[in-house]
Order: sequence, then C-alpha cells, then structure tokens
Amino acid sequence: MSRQILVTSALPYANGSIHLGHLVEYIQTDIWVRFQKMRGHECHYVCADDTHGTAIMLRAEKEGITPETLIGRVWNEHTRDFAGFHIGFDHYYSTHSDENRELASTIYLRLADAGLIETKTIAQLYDPIKNLFLPDRFIKGECPKCGALDQYGDNCEVCGATYSPTELKNPVSAVSGATPVHKDSEHYFFKLGTCETFLREWTTSGALQAEASNKMQEWFASGLNNWDISRDAPYFGFEIPGAPGKYFYVWLDAPVGYMASFAKYAAVYGLDFNAWWGPDSKTELVHFIGKDILYFHALFWPAMLKYSGHRLPTAVYAHGFLTVNGQKMSKSRGTFITADSYLAQGLNPEWLRYYYAAKLNGSMEDLDLNLDDFTARVNSDLVGKFINIASRTAGFIRKNFDGKLADGVANIELIGAFQAAASDIAAHYEARDYGRALREIMALADRANQYVADEKPWELAKKPEAVYRLHEVCTVALNCFRLLTLYLKPVLPKLAEQVETFLNIPPLTWDDAQSLFIRHAINEYSHLMTRIDPKSIEAMVDANKQNLEPTAPAPVRHAEAQTHAAQPATAAPVADTPESNMIGIDDFAKIDLRIARIANAENVEGADKLLRLTLDLGDLGTRQVFAGIKSAYAPEALVGRFTVMVANLAPRKMKFGMSEGMVLAASGDAPGLFILSPDSGAQPGMKVK
Ligand code: MSP
Ligand code: ZN
Repeated sequence: MSRQILVTSALPYANGSIHLGHLVEYIQTDIWVRFQKMRGHECHYVCADDTHGTAIMLRAEKEGITPETLIGRVWNEHTRDFAGFHIGFDHYYSTHSDENRELASTIYLRLADAGLIETKTIAQLYDPIKNLFLPDRFIKGECPKCGALDQYGDNCEVCGATYSPTELKNPVSAVSGATPVHKDSEHYFFKLGTCETFLREWTTSGALQAEASNKMQEWFASGLNNWDISRDAPYFGFEIPGAPGKYFYVWLDAPVGYMASFAKYAAVYGLDFNAWWGPDSKTELVHFIGKDILYFHALFWPAMLKYSGHRLPTAVYAHGFLTVNGQKMSKSRGTFITADSYLAQGLNPEWLRYYYAAKLNGSMEDLDLNLDDFTARVNSDLVGKFINIASRTAGFIRKNFDGKLADGVANIELIGAFQAAASDIAAHYEARDYGRALREIMALADRANQYVADEKPWELAKKPEAVYRLHEVCTVALNCFRLLTLYLKPVLPKLAEQVETFLNIPPLTWDDAQSLFIRHAINEYSHLMTRIDPKSIEAMVDANKQNLEPTAPAPVRHAEAQTHAAQPATAAPVADTPESNMIGIDDFAKIDLRIARIANAENVEGADKLLRLTLDLGDLGTRQVFAGIKSAYAPEALVGRFTVMVANLAPRKMKFGMSEGMVLAASGDAPGLFILSPDSGAQPGMKVK
C-alpha cells in the first residue's frame, strides 16, 4: 500500500527573486508532499535553482562578479525565502552541479546514439560589439506588423504579433546598443518530430490533466518543430561533449536538474538512483509546474527521458497563473510582491498558504489573490472559526481539571462525523483540490463552533453541579480541534506543530484521525494565531510600488527625498516617519549607495519624463539608468556631473531598456527636482554611508 513518490516543483530561474506568483507552485507542491508524508508514504521532494543562460551571464558581468558568485548568492536568497514559507524541500540543489553536467551529457549522448540529434547552420542576430549571439529578449526594434517602437525580439506588446527577431525593423542590441548583424552558426537540434508517435500516445496516457492533453493536440496539429538545443560561446552553461564552443541551451539541462538534485540526495541518503529513474522504475515521478512551461514538460522532457533509456513521469500537474486584485501582477500597482517583502512586513506565511490552498482546485485556471478577500477569509476561517474552538475551551481544562481531558467523549456522533470525513478530505488533497478539502474542513469547524455555542462552557463553569458536563464538553471540543488541526496540517505545518506542543502529542499523522483524544494531559494554551492587520497589507503593497515613469512633479510630501527611476523610493523620509516605517541599521546597510559620474545623458524617444543616463562607477563599471528627471535637466547639463546612485537594485526591464539602479534626487512642495551631488573630491565608485 505504501507508495514511493518523487515530487518536483519547477526550478526557479536564478536571475530573479521569488515572488508571490512563484509561491503558488511551491505552496501547492509542498501541501501535496506534506499530505503524502502524513499518509505514511515514502515521498521525496527535490528542486534546484535553474542557473544557466545568457541573462545570468550578463547580469553577473554587469555586477562585476562571476556567474558562480551570482548564482551562489541567489541560491541563498531563494532557500531563505522558501524556508520562510515553510516549503519543505528534501533537497534544494543547483543545475550548475557536477551531477547535472554528467547526467545532461549522458542523456545527450544517448539521444545522439539513437539518431535524434542533427546539426544545421542557421543565421541569428549577433551583437558585433559584445561578440555575442543575442537571445530574443535582448533584441529590441520596431514591430514588423504595426511598427510600434521598442518591441522585444519575439513579440509585440502593442499589437500582440509574434515573430522571429530577424524580422524586427531597425533592431538594436539591448546589451550594447549596437545594431545586430546576421551571422551564421552551426546549431544542434533534437529531432522532436521523430518522437511524434510516442508523444501522441504519452500525452493521452493519463499523465496530463485533460485540459493539458487537449492543448497538446493543438500543438500536434500545428506540427512539431525540431528543437534547437545548442548555444554558442560565450554562454554560461555546460559545453556539449564533442562540440567545442557549443553549449547546452538552458532548457536542455534544466529538467535534468530534477534528476541531478535527486542523484545528490540519493547519494547522501543511500537511495538507489536507478530504482527511481531507470526504465523499469516502479516508483512515481510527479512534476508540478506552471502552465507556461507545459510545452517543455509534456513534449521535450518525456521525449528526452524515453529515448535516453529513463522512466517517464507518472504525472505532470500544471497550475494556472496568479493575478493580484484581478490583474496581472504589476510593479507600478505594487502587486508584484516579492516573498521577502511579504515576510518583511511580519505577515504570517501560513495566511498565504491557507489562502492559496482555498483557491487551488487542481486545474490550470488562473487564481486571484484579492487582498481584501485574503484578509477577510483568513481572519474569519482561521482565527474566527478554527483557533476559536481551542481558545474558548482549553482554559477550563487547565483550570478546572488540572490539564487533563475526560475519560471518554460525550458526543460520539459529532466526533464520529469528524473522523468519517478523513477519507473524503484525503481524496481532495490527493486530487489537488485543496479548495474542496478546506471547504469540508471549515464546515466541520462550523459544527464544532455550533456545539460550543450550544453547550456554553463559560456558563457551565459557573455552576458547581455542571463540572462533569464542563469536562465532557471541553474534551469533545478539543477532540474536534485536534482533528481539524490534523486535516489542516499539510497547509499549516507550523501552526500544527504549535498545536501539537499545546496538546502535548507527537506529530499528527493521517491515521491518527481514527483515534480518540482522551485521558490525556495538555499544556497551557497560548495564543496560536493573530488576525491580519489590513495596514500591514497596505504597507507591503507600498513597499513594492515602483514608479516606472513618475508623473512629474513628484508626489508632494514634506521634505522627502524622492528617487527617480524604475524603482521604489528606498530613501525613507526623515521627518514624519511612522514607527512602522522605521528601519534598523542592518536594513540601511543593505542599500549600496555609490558615487557615480554621469558619463552620458540623453533623451529617450517616446518618453516625456525620462532621461537615459550612463553612470560611471569607477572600478565597478558603468550602469544604464532611466531617471524621471527630464523636466528639470537638459541632458547636456548633466554630463560630467557627479551624483549618488543606489547600485545594488536588481536590474529592471523597462519599456525602453534595462534600468540598472537609480539616482537620488530631492523634491518637495516647491517646484523643482534636484539631483544630489557629493562634495568635490568624491570619486566614482566610492561608497556612501
Ligand atoms: N526555470 C524555469 C523552469 C525550469 S523547470 C525544469 C522557469 N522558472 S521561473 O522562475 O520563471 O518559474 C518557476 C515556476 O513558477 C514555473 O512553474 C512558473 O510557471 C511559476 N510561476 C512564475 N510566475 C507565476 C505566476 N505569476 N503565477 C503562478 N505561477 C508562476 O520557468
Ligand atoms: Zn506590433
């Protein structure tokens, strides 16, 4: 009966922070894994950072560090964020590992042996200054369909057309600003078309959700293209065996990262790799992914596995995309919320876990995080219904009965109903229909609350002759509470742990649903969960708000230093700082302020408030920053001036190109906008403290 299950979540890119959209997936997977473990199954949850590609190489170069240093730093940030949301990976690795190099090479060589790799010379856009083939999103130009300016190499945000970057009119390299040239190069292709019969069969074998399987049929109908799996140097990745100067495209070694992460883990814990990945494996392999990467997981990946002599996934479960307040996450609205900023406001990660769980139903539909609904739902369900049961009854057990529960349960019908729900709730978790599981659990909580309201223990406690009844009632209520905790445990692992301590019991497993909780001494009740304060939600949104192109004059606030770029204001106002906005010296130390020399300043075509600045940071190199200061400065007047910039802001893609930091400027009630300058003598790159 016991199953062996290997579970993965998609490997997040190592070039960005974890945000609330990502967390839909990691929370969804984590709940499933915790549920399987509670059921007594052998379940392993592995993941890793996805570390390769041009973007990571260029970002490291810009920061003046090696890609290895960059991905090491991001690994620390990602694992910290995941731990903050109680994502319980058994192993979190990196695709830049020896195991992954080894496995990716082996798979590639076996595909080549099977006659599934071919080479072909193709022409691609090349940056003649950086000596680099340009990925689509590093090329900008005019849309070949509607002529809109400043569009990316693969699709037009104005008319929605998709095209190949070589079709763009007047293309420019977003890396150097150079005009790209067409250049031939030999590429390696995986002959996906040859795998069509197998893929048609596999995609209808039950491993995919019905909606995903239908989507596949559309892809088959439009024909399977061979897949370009090589990239030319310079590239941060693995060199292809026998092909000097050619590297595996990041998406070739990324899913192999699932195997590599498991391989490392298996070596440490003595698991047999082949029993899990060999062609005759009897174990389950379950991938959780977002719907945007279905193509890779439902076509390329199974084909790679099949033709390299490995087992196939048992299931690929795709989820939909997160919207916030009904709209795509947006930096300017402050709804592009990072995991870190959520936790930094002191918001409880289990609130979000609960809300997502309530919204997830196992389909590929998008789900919405409505911030008002979030507050109302969590406060009413978790605090108002669930916690309430314990907070209204536990005290009497401690005070009147020495902490000891009664010898039996008085309302066997109620407890029986709670116990009987276990199998239904389990089936919903298994099917990833967490929303339904939680609806059933909350319906039980309603019954328990009704029971307490009817029995009124606080009144029983006033009558000496009702002491026996009081004991019974509180024992029944705490039995309900224990079972609710058990059912909620996959979603609220930390809270469940606190309850286990309070109830003085070992970690709850699913089978514990069938036992009664009697003749047992509990510990003192201490408050388990607070309500969400809507103010901290507002503060979080504010913290994430970014004035992409501030509307001049800048928002009027007394004596406040405003920052003008594609970034949020980080400098806190000196006067009127509310207590809750105070930061410690450690927070301040995170901001890397540097002296910059404005090496160049120019108008940005199509933007009426922005100037494109090239900032010289001495040894730290140069940065491009878009600043909303055009109303106050002619570009020529700025060239050669010194100013202060925030140098460690993550680069941000704007409509007009990458913005790699921001300059500090002041504005107030009086008109005008004033960039800050250091005293003479300060040199570019000096740290401002
Ligand atoms: N690196 C690839 C995956 C490689 S798997 C071998 C990737 N990384 S990602 O960082 O962009 O996304 C990681 C996961 O988070 C993906 O499954 C993606 O669908 C999911 N999400 C990213 N943004 C999301 C939302 N806004 N909403 C829901 N899920 C989202 O893709
Ligand atoms: Zn267009």
